[in-house]
Amino acid sequence: MMNKQTAGPQRWENQLECEALRSAGPMEPGSVPHIEPLILSTVWQLDSPMAADQALSGANDAFAYRRDGHPNERSLAHKLASLHGASQASITAQGMSAISAVAMGILEPGGQVWLGQELYGKTSRLFEHSLAKWQITTRHFDPTDKVQIDELSRQKVDLVLVETLSNPRLSVARLEDISVATHAAGGKLVVDNTFATHLVCQPLSYGADFVVESLSKQVNGHSDSMLGLVAGNDRQLMDCIQDTISTFGMASSPLDCYLTHRGLMSLALRLERACVNALALAEALDALPTTIEVDYPGLTHHPQHQFAKEQLRGGYGWMLTFHLPLQRPEVADLFRKLAPEIPFAPSLGDICTTLSHPATTSHRGYSESQRVSLGITEGTIRVSCGVEPAEWLIEQFSQAILDFARA
Ligand SMILES: Cc1ncc(COP(=O)(O)O)c(C=O)c1O
Repeated sequence: MMNKQTAGPQRWENQLECEALRSAGPMEPGSVPHIEPLILSTVWQLDSPMAADQALSGANDAFAYRRDGHPNERSLAHKLASLHGASQASITAQGMSAISAVAMGILEPGGQVWLGQELYGKTSRLFEHSLAKWQITTRHFDPTDKVQIDELSRQKVDLVLVETLSNPRLSVARLEDISVATHAAGGKLVVDNTFATHLVCQPLSYGADFVVESLSKQVNGHSDSMLGLVAGNDRQLMDCIQDTISTFGMASSPLDCYLTHRGLMSLALRLERACVNALALAEALDALPTTIEVDYPGLTHHPQHQFAKEQLRGGYGWMLTFHLPLQRPEVADLFRKLAPEIPFAPSLGDICTTLSHPATTSHRGYSESQRVSLGITEGTIRVSCGVEPAEWLIEQFSQAILDFARA
Protein backbone atom coordinates (compact mmCIF):
# COMPACT_ATOMS: atom_id res chain seq x y z
CA MET A 1 0.00 0.00 0.00
CA MET A 2 2.76 2.39 0.94
CA ASN A 3 4.34 2.28 -2.51
CA LYS A 4 1.18 2.65 -4.52
CA GLN A 5 1.60 5.73 -6.75
CA THR A 6 -1.24 8.12 -6.04
CA ALA A 7 -1.75 11.71 -7.06
CA GLY A 8 -1.74 14.53 -4.49
CA PRO A 9 -0.42 14.55 -0.93
CA GLN A 10 0.26 10.77 -0.69
CA ARG A 11 2.89 11.10 -3.40
CA TRP A 12 4.72 13.72 -1.37
CA GLU A 13 4.73 11.49 1.67
CA ASN A 14 6.34 8.62 -0.25
CA GLN A 15 9.03 10.88 -1.58
CA LEU A 16 9.73 12.36 1.87
CA GLU A 17 9.82 8.93 3.45
CA CYS A 18 12.41 7.76 0.94
CA GLU A 19 14.46 10.90 1.44
CA ALA A 20 14.49 10.27 5.17
CA LEU A 21 15.99 6.86 4.47
CA ARG A 22 18.88 8.18 2.41
CA SER A 23 22.30 8.50 4.05
CA ALA A 24 23.51 11.96 5.08
CA GLY A 25 26.17 11.94 2.36
CA PRO A 26 29.64 13.42 2.51
CA MET A 27 30.52 16.56 4.49
CA GLU A 28 30.95 19.95 2.86
CA PRO A 29 34.20 20.02 0.86
CA GLY A 30 36.80 22.08 2.71
CA SER A 31 35.22 21.52 6.15
CA VAL A 32 37.74 19.24 7.81
CA PRO A 33 36.73 18.18 11.33
CA HIS A 34 39.53 18.76 13.81
CA ILE A 35 38.63 15.56 15.67
CA GLU A 36 38.25 12.28 13.84
CA PRO A 37 34.50 11.68 13.42
CA LEU A 38 32.83 8.67 14.96
CA ILE A 39 31.55 6.57 12.05
CA LEU A 40 28.94 4.06 13.14
CA SER A 41 28.01 2.74 9.71
CA THR A 42 28.08 -1.04 9.53
CA VAL A 43 28.12 -1.05 5.73
CA TRP A 44 29.56 1.08 2.89
CA GLN A 45 27.97 1.97 -0.43
CA LEU A 46 29.96 0.45 -3.29
CA ASP A 47 30.02 1.32 -6.98
CA SER A 48 29.84 -2.20 -8.31
CA PRO A 49 30.27 -5.91 -7.46
CA MET A 50 33.88 -5.52 -8.67
CA ALA A 51 34.39 -2.79 -6.06
CA ALA A 52 32.91 -5.11 -3.40
CA ASP A 53 35.24 -7.89 -4.48
CA GLN A 54 38.27 -5.60 -4.25
CA ALA A 55 37.30 -4.19 -0.85
CA LEU A 56 36.52 -7.58 0.69
CA SER A 57 39.61 -9.31 -0.73
CA GLY A 58 41.83 -6.57 0.73
CA ALA A 59 43.05 -5.55 -2.74
CA ASN A 60 42.56 -1.91 -1.76
CA ASP A 61 41.85 0.12 1.39
CA ALA A 62 38.11 0.55 0.79
CA PHE A 63 35.61 -0.47 3.47
CA ALA A 64 32.61 -2.73 2.79
CA TYR A 65 31.33 -4.26 6.05
CA ARG A 66 32.25 -3.14 9.56
CA ARG A 67 33.37 -6.58 10.71
CA ASP A 68 36.20 -6.46 8.14
CA GLY A 69 37.38 -2.99 9.12
CA HIS A 70 36.06 0.52 9.73
CA PRO A 71 37.61 4.00 9.80
CA ASN A 72 37.82 4.39 13.61
CA GLU A 73 39.51 1.00 13.89
CA ARG A 74 41.93 1.65 11.05
CA SER A 75 43.25 4.96 12.38
CA LEU A 76 43.77 3.51 15.87
CA ALA A 77 45.48 0.40 14.44
CA HIS A 78 47.83 2.51 12.28
CA LYS A 79 48.83 4.66 15.21
CA LEU A 80 49.45 1.74 17.58
CA ALA A 81 51.38 -0.23 14.92
CA SER A 82 53.72 2.70 14.48
CA LEU A 83 54.10 3.24 18.26
CA HIS A 84 55.06 -0.44 18.68
CA GLY A 85 57.40 -0.46 15.65
CA ALA A 86 55.12 -2.97 13.88
CA SER A 87 54.23 -3.07 10.20
CA GLN A 88 50.66 -4.15 10.94
CA ALA A 89 48.15 -4.09 13.80
CA SER A 90 44.62 -5.35 14.33
CA ILE A 91 42.11 -4.13 16.88
CA THR A 92 39.79 -6.65 18.52
CA ALA A 93 36.67 -6.42 20.69
CA GLN A 94 38.60 -7.10 23.92
CA GLY A 95 42.05 -8.01 25.18
CA MET A 96 40.93 -11.65 25.40
CA SER A 97 39.94 -11.70 21.73
CA ALA A 98 43.40 -10.36 20.81
CA ILE A 99 45.00 -13.29 22.68
CA SER A 100 42.48 -15.79 21.24
CA ALA A 101 43.00 -14.51 17.67
CA VAL A 102 46.79 -14.70 17.89
CA ALA A 103 46.61 -18.22 19.36
CA MET A 104 44.22 -19.41 16.64
CA GLY A 105 46.34 -17.73 13.96
CA ILE A 106 49.57 -19.45 15.06
CA LEU A 107 48.50 -22.83 16.43
CA GLU A 108 47.46 -26.02 14.65
CA PRO A 109 45.64 -28.82 16.52
CA GLY A 110 48.17 -30.67 18.69
CA GLY A 111 50.37 -27.56 19.11
CA GLN A 112 52.83 -27.15 21.96
CA VAL A 113 52.60 -24.02 24.09
CA TRP A 114 54.86 -22.67 26.82
CA LEU A 115 53.20 -20.14 29.12
CA GLY A 116 54.74 -17.80 31.65
CA GLN A 117 53.93 -19.33 35.04
CA GLU A 118 52.03 -16.25 36.19
CA LEU A 119 49.46 -14.75 33.81
CA TYR A 120 46.06 -13.07 33.84
CA GLY A 121 43.71 -15.90 34.94
CA LYS A 122 41.58 -15.94 31.76
CA THR A 123 44.70 -16.25 29.58
CA SER A 124 45.71 -19.42 31.42
CA ARG A 125 42.16 -20.66 31.17
CA LEU A 126 42.05 -20.05 27.41
CA PHE A 127 45.08 -22.24 26.76
CA GLU A 128 44.58 -24.86 29.45
CA HIS A 129 40.81 -25.40 29.09
CA SER A 130 39.31 -23.90 25.93
CA LEU A 131 42.20 -24.74 23.56
CA ALA A 132 42.86 -28.12 25.22
CA LYS A 133 39.91 -29.38 23.12
CA TRP A 134 42.16 -28.97 20.08
CA GLN A 135 44.83 -31.11 21.77
CA ILE A 136 46.93 -28.04 22.50
CA THR A 137 49.30 -28.92 25.32
CA THR A 138 50.67 -26.31 27.69
CA ARG A 139 53.61 -26.16 30.01
CA HIS A 140 54.52 -23.41 32.45
CA PHE A 141 57.92 -21.85 32.93
CA ASP A 142 59.45 -19.00 34.87
CA PRO A 143 60.18 -16.23 32.33
CA THR A 144 62.67 -14.61 34.73
CA ASP A 145 64.81 -17.76 35.10
CA LYS A 146 67.72 -18.18 32.65
CA VAL A 147 67.98 -21.93 33.28
CA GLN A 148 64.35 -22.54 32.32
CA ILE A 149 64.67 -20.22 29.32
CA ASP A 150 67.69 -22.27 28.21
CA GLU A 151 65.63 -25.42 28.50
CA LEU A 152 62.96 -23.85 26.27
CA SER A 153 65.53 -23.40 23.49
CA ARG A 154 66.10 -27.18 23.40
CA GLN A 155 62.38 -28.09 22.99
CA LYS A 156 60.01 -28.17 20.04
CA VAL A 157 57.50 -25.39 20.78
CA ASP A 158 54.92 -23.61 18.60
CA LEU A 159 53.94 -20.66 20.75
CA VAL A 160 55.34 -19.01 23.87
CA LEU A 161 53.30 -16.42 25.74
CA VAL A 162 54.56 -14.24 28.59
CA GLU A 163 53.52 -10.97 30.18
CA THR A 164 56.09 -8.13 30.18
CA LEU A 165 55.11 -7.40 33.79
CA SER A 166 53.21 -10.34 35.22
CA ASN A 167 49.73 -10.11 36.68
CA PRO A 168 49.58 -9.75 39.67
CA ARG A 169 53.11 -10.08 41.11
CA LEU A 170 54.95 -7.82 38.65
CA SER A 171 57.86 -10.04 37.75
CA VAL A 172 59.77 -8.85 34.69
CA ALA A 173 60.09 -11.36 31.81
CA ARG A 174 63.54 -11.57 30.13
CA LEU A 175 62.12 -10.78 26.69
CA GLU A 176 65.31 -10.88 24.61
CA ASP A 177 66.48 -14.24 26.05
CA ILE A 178 62.98 -15.72 25.69
CA SER A 179 62.73 -14.55 22.11
CA VAL A 180 66.06 -16.17 21.15
CA ALA A 181 65.05 -19.40 22.93
CA THR A 182 61.56 -19.44 21.35
CA HIS A 183 63.01 -19.06 17.86
CA ALA A 184 65.58 -21.81 18.52
CA ALA A 185 62.61 -24.00 19.55
CA GLY A 186 60.87 -23.21 16.24
CA GLY A 187 58.07 -21.15 17.79
CA LYS A 188 56.60 -17.66 17.89
CA LEU A 189 56.82 -15.38 20.91
CA VAL A 190 53.67 -13.50 21.95
CA VAL A 191 54.07 -10.86 24.67
CA ASP A 192 51.12 -9.47 26.61
CA ASN A 193 52.23 -5.90 27.26
CA THR A 194 49.05 -4.71 29.02
CA PHE A 195 50.84 -3.73 32.27
CA ALA A 196 53.48 -1.73 30.39
CA THR A 197 52.05 -0.18 27.18
CA HIS A 198 54.41 0.90 24.37
CA LEU A 199 55.68 3.75 26.55
CA VAL A 200 57.22 1.47 29.20
CA CYS A 201 58.26 -1.41 26.93
CA GLN A 202 58.21 -2.31 23.24
CA PRO A 203 58.40 -6.12 23.09
CA LEU A 204 58.92 -6.26 19.30
CA SER A 205 62.24 -4.44 19.75
CA TYR A 206 63.39 -7.40 21.93
CA GLY A 207 62.56 -9.91 19.21
CA ALA A 208 58.94 -10.81 20.09
CA ASP A 209 56.87 -11.84 17.07
CA PHE A 210 53.62 -10.39 18.34
CA VAL A 211 52.62 -7.93 21.01
CA VAL A 212 49.10 -8.12 22.45
CA GLU A 213 47.49 -5.65 24.81
CA SER A 214 44.18 -5.12 26.51
CA LEU A 215 43.42 -1.56 25.42
CA SER A 216 40.52 -1.65 27.90
CA LYS A 217 43.05 -0.62 30.56
CA GLN A 218 45.63 2.19 30.58
CA VAL A 219 45.50 3.09 26.87
CA ASN A 220 41.80 3.91 27.15
CA GLY A 221 42.42 5.14 30.70
CA HIS A 222 38.84 5.92 31.74
CA SER A 223 37.19 2.48 32.14
CA ASP A 224 34.62 3.17 29.44
CA SER A 225 35.60 0.95 26.52
CA MET A 226 36.90 -2.55 25.86
CA LEU A 227 39.34 -3.39 23.05
CA GLY A 228 42.41 -5.48 22.32
CA LEU A 229 45.50 -5.03 20.16
CA VAL A 230 47.62 -7.49 18.16
CA ALA A 231 50.66 -5.99 16.42
CA GLY A 232 53.47 -7.71 14.51
CA ASN A 233 55.67 -7.77 11.43
CA ASP A 234 54.81 -11.14 9.87
CA ARG A 235 52.44 -10.12 7.11
CA GLN A 236 51.15 -13.61 6.38
CA LEU A 237 50.35 -14.40 10.02
CA MET A 238 48.90 -10.93 10.65
CA ASP A 239 46.55 -11.46 7.67
CA CYS A 240 45.57 -14.83 9.08
CA ILE A 241 44.92 -13.23 12.51
CA GLN A 242 42.80 -10.50 10.88
CA ASP A 243 40.81 -13.21 9.09
CA THR A 244 40.26 -15.02 12.43
CA ILE A 245 39.03 -11.75 13.98
CA SER A 246 36.44 -11.34 11.23
CA THR A 247 35.37 -14.99 11.02
CA PHE A 248 35.06 -15.55 14.78
CA GLY A 249 33.21 -12.26 15.27
CA MET A 250 35.92 -10.58 17.36
CA ALA A 251 35.78 -7.20 15.59
CA SER A 252 35.89 -3.87 17.43
CA SER A 253 33.15 -1.27 17.82
CA PRO A 254 33.70 2.24 16.40
CA LEU A 255 32.68 3.94 19.65
CA ASP A 256 35.22 1.94 21.65
CA CYS A 257 37.92 2.75 19.04
CA TYR A 258 36.97 6.43 19.19
CA LEU A 259 37.17 6.53 23.01
CA THR A 260 40.42 4.58 23.08
CA HIS A 261 41.95 6.85 20.44
CA ARG A 262 41.06 9.82 22.62
CA GLY A 263 42.62 8.08 25.63
CA LEU A 264 45.78 7.38 23.65
CA MET A 265 46.28 11.11 23.16
CA SER A 266 46.66 11.73 26.91
CA LEU A 267 48.37 8.42 27.70
CA ALA A 268 51.89 9.83 28.05
CA LEU A 269 50.79 12.43 30.59
CA ARG A 270 48.63 10.05 32.63
CA LEU A 271 51.21 7.30 32.57
CA GLU A 272 54.09 9.51 33.66
CA ARG A 273 52.18 10.65 36.75
CA ALA A 274 50.84 7.16 37.52
CA CYS A 275 54.34 5.61 37.34
CA VAL A 276 55.76 8.28 39.69
CA ASN A 277 52.85 7.61 42.08
CA ALA A 278 53.37 3.85 41.96
CA LEU A 279 57.05 4.17 42.90
CA ALA A 280 56.29 6.62 45.72
CA LEU A 281 53.48 4.44 47.08
CA ALA A 282 55.52 1.23 46.81
CA GLU A 283 58.40 2.83 48.76
CA ALA A 284 56.03 4.21 51.40
CA LEU A 285 54.21 0.88 51.88
CA ASP A 286 57.52 -0.96 52.00
CA ALA A 287 58.64 1.30 54.86
CA LEU A 288 55.48 0.85 56.98
CA PRO A 289 56.13 -0.52 60.48
CA THR A 290 53.89 -3.55 59.94
CA THR A 291 54.06 -6.96 58.27
CA ILE A 292 53.73 -6.20 54.58
CA GLU A 293 55.39 -7.46 51.40
CA VAL A 294 55.40 -5.18 48.35
CA ASP A 295 55.91 -6.25 44.71
CA TYR A 296 57.10 -3.42 42.47
CA PRO A 297 60.01 -3.62 40.00
CA GLY A 298 61.12 -0.10 40.96
CA LEU A 299 61.98 -1.22 44.51
CA THR A 300 65.69 -1.93 44.84
CA HIS A 301 65.01 -5.30 46.51
CA HIS A 302 62.69 -6.51 43.74
CA PRO A 303 64.32 -9.67 42.28
CA GLN A 304 64.53 -8.20 38.75
CA HIS A 305 65.17 -4.56 39.67
CA GLN A 306 68.55 -4.28 37.89
CA PHE A 307 67.26 -5.99 34.80
CA ALA A 308 64.03 -3.92 34.85
CA LYS A 309 66.15 -0.77 34.64
CA GLU A 310 67.41 -1.97 31.24
CA GLN A 311 64.19 -3.33 29.79
CA LEU A 312 61.64 -0.79 31.03
CA ARG A 313 61.71 2.85 30.01
CA GLY A 314 60.41 5.98 31.68
CA GLY A 315 59.23 4.20 34.84
CA TYR A 316 58.47 0.78 36.25
CA GLY A 317 54.74 0.83 35.52
CA TRP A 318 51.69 1.98 37.46
CA MET A 319 50.75 -1.38 38.96
CA LEU A 320 51.91 -2.64 42.35
CA THR A 321 50.83 -5.48 44.58
CA PHE A 322 51.13 -5.86 48.34
CA HIS A 323 50.50 -8.76 50.66
CA LEU A 324 49.13 -8.54 54.21
CA PRO A 325 48.61 -11.49 56.58
CA LEU A 326 44.79 -11.19 56.26
CA GLN A 327 41.85 -13.44 55.46
CA ARG A 328 38.99 -12.54 53.12
CA PRO A 329 36.61 -10.87 55.69
CA GLU A 330 39.49 -8.68 56.96
CA VAL A 331 40.37 -7.68 53.39
CA ALA A 332 36.70 -6.71 52.94
CA ASP A 333 37.02 -4.46 56.04
CA LEU A 334 40.21 -2.88 54.69
CA PHE A 335 38.50 -2.22 51.34
CA ARG A 336 35.61 -0.55 53.21
CA LYS A 337 38.13 1.65 55.06
CA LEU A 338 39.75 2.72 51.79
CA ALA A 339 36.44 3.35 49.96
CA PRO A 340 35.12 5.57 48.50
CA GLU A 341 38.44 7.39 47.93
CA ILE A 342 40.19 4.25 46.67
CA PRO A 343 37.48 1.98 45.23
CA PHE A 344 37.61 -1.79 44.90
CA ALA A 345 37.01 -1.94 41.13
CA PRO A 346 38.59 -5.10 39.76
CA SER A 347 40.12 -3.81 36.55
CA LEU A 348 43.15 -1.52 36.07
CA GLY A 349 44.50 1.48 34.20
CA ASP A 350 41.81 3.96 35.25
CA ILE A 351 42.60 7.65 35.71
CA CYS A 352 41.95 7.16 39.44
CA THR A 353 43.57 4.64 41.74
CA THR A 354 41.66 1.36 42.11
CA LEU A 355 42.08 -1.86 44.06
CA SER A 356 41.71 -5.46 43.08
CA HIS A 357 41.70 -8.78 44.93
CA PRO A 358 43.31 -11.36 42.61
CA ALA A 359 42.18 -14.44 44.58
CA THR A 360 38.47 -13.64 43.98
CA THR A 361 38.72 -11.80 40.63
CA SER A 362 41.52 -11.99 38.02
CA HIS A 363 42.99 -15.24 39.37
CA ARG A 364 39.83 -16.96 40.62
CA GLY A 365 40.23 -19.59 37.86
CA TYR A 366 43.60 -20.71 39.27
CA SER A 367 43.46 -23.63 41.68
CA GLU A 368 44.22 -22.90 45.33
CA SER A 369 47.55 -24.76 45.00
CA GLN A 370 48.51 -22.77 41.87
CA ARG A 371 47.79 -19.54 43.74
CA VAL A 372 49.78 -20.66 46.77
CA SER A 373 52.76 -21.61 44.59
CA LEU A 374 52.68 -18.13 43.02
CA GLY A 375 52.35 -16.41 46.40
CA ILE A 376 48.81 -15.14 45.72
CA THR A 377 46.97 -15.30 49.05
CA GLU A 378 43.67 -13.96 50.43
CA GLY A 379 45.73 -11.02 51.69
CA THR A 380 47.17 -10.16 48.25
CA ILE A 381 45.93 -6.75 47.08
CA ARG A 382 46.68 -5.29 43.64
CA VAL A 383 46.78 -1.53 43.18
CA SER A 384 46.41 0.31 39.88
CA CYS A 385 47.77 3.81 40.53
CA GLY A 386 46.00 6.81 39.05
CA VAL A 387 46.99 10.45 38.78
CA GLU A 388 46.04 11.74 42.26
CA PRO A 389 48.72 13.63 44.23
CA ALA A 390 51.23 11.08 45.55
CA GLU A 391 51.14 12.43 49.16
CA TRP A 392 47.35 12.00 49.27
CA LEU A 393 47.62 8.41 48.03
CA ILE A 394 50.31 7.53 50.53
CA GLU A 395 48.24 9.05 53.34
CA GLN A 396 45.11 7.07 52.37
CA PHE A 397 46.90 3.72 52.21
CA SER A 398 49.22 4.19 55.20
CA GLN A 399 46.40 5.33 57.49
CA ALA A 400 44.06 2.51 56.53
CA ILE A 401 46.72 -0.20 56.81
CA LEU A 402 48.15 1.06 60.10
CA ASP A 403 44.66 1.55 61.64
CA PHE A 404 43.95 -1.97 60.61
CA ALA A 405 47.16 -3.34 62.03
CA ARG A 406 46.46 -1.55 65.38
CA ALA A 407 42.82 -2.74 65.64
C1 LIG B 1 47.39 -8.76 31.56
C2 LIG B 1 46.01 -8.85 30.97
N1 LIG B 1 45.88 -9.32 29.71
C3 LIG B 1 44.66 -9.42 29.13
C4 LIG B 1 43.51 -9.06 29.80
C5 LIG B 1 42.18 -9.22 29.13
O1 LIG B 1 41.72 -7.99 28.67
P1 LIG B 1 40.16 -7.66 28.43
O2 LIG B 1 39.54 -7.53 29.77
O3 LIG B 1 40.20 -6.38 27.64
O4 LIG B 1 39.61 -8.80 27.64
C6 LIG B 1 43.60 -8.56 31.11
C7 LIG B 1 42.39 -8.18 31.85
O5 LIG B 1 42.43 -7.79 32.99
C8 LIG B 1 44.88 -8.46 31.71
O6 LIG B 1 45.05 -8.02 32.97
